[in-house]
Amino acid sequence: MLRNTKDSYGLVARLLHWLMAILIIGLIIVGLIMTELPKGDLKSQIYQTHKAIGAIVLILLIFRLFWRLINPVPEPLSIDLRERLLARLMHLVLYALIFIQALSGIIMSQAHGYAVSVFGWFELPTLVNKSKDLAEAAEEVHEFVWIILTIGIILHVMAALKHHFIDKDRTLLRMIKGQ
Ligand code: HEM
Ligand code: HEM
Repeated sequence: MLRNTKDSYGLVARLLHWLMAILIIGLIIVGLIMTELPKGDLKSQIYQTHKAIGAIVLILLIFRLFWRLINPVPEPLSIDLRERLLARLMHLVLYALIFIQALSGIIMSQAHGYAVSVFGWFELPTLVNKSKDLAEAAEEVHEFVWIILTIGIILHVMAALKHHFIDKDRTLLRMIKGQ
């Protein structure tokens, strides 16, 4: 089934979850490596790819939030009310951090005067004009927020594994298989 129900994730939500997880983890690793490379063609090619994939993540995120809005959100399986609220809060925090990380990257690039092209297929609309101060502020955000995002992802994965191996419920399976 494409759509979610009150207790299962549909195919669209599951594909978006796993595709974005791979892209985001890849962006963090590549982001950290690329900044250490010596100046040259390879470095600028990797920067272009990082920016294009980052832009794709932002577009997917907007679609994912829209899809979440027009679908039921499966109820967390935990019985404990605090755990259920924490799970929901954590998901919203993850969405917010991905949004800030991607948007700060785009603002940083545009404020430096570089357009953001997605593999030459299309360019993102210009959100900000060239400004050294804004570029530096966005860079500081981009170089910091990924750390909080990484901590969030680690806690999120630990929670998923706790559900699977300790609580032995279907939280992880329903994100993999739907039911
Ligand atoms: C969720 C999406 C993204 C993630 C997880 C991510 C992650 C990262 C990380 C971990 C770094 C290294 C930071 C450091 O050296 O401290 C980085 C650097 C960078 N990212 Fe992203 N990024 C994302 C999206 C974007 C986007 C959309 C753009 C631009 C369109 C972008 C442009 C850059 C640039 C230009 C750098 C190098 C900054 C520098 O030279 O100091 N990123 N990114
Ligand atoms: C970059 C990495 C990841 C991000 C940003 C991420 C983000 C999210 C978000 C935002 C949700 C909530 C979906 C919704 O209801 O709107 C979610 C659900 C879920 N994620 Fe992840 N995730 C990541 C990686 C992983 C990994 C590696 C695992 C497995 C080990 C995992 C397991 C799950 C499970 C089981 C759920 C369903 C939770 C529930 O039913 O309450 N995630 N994830």
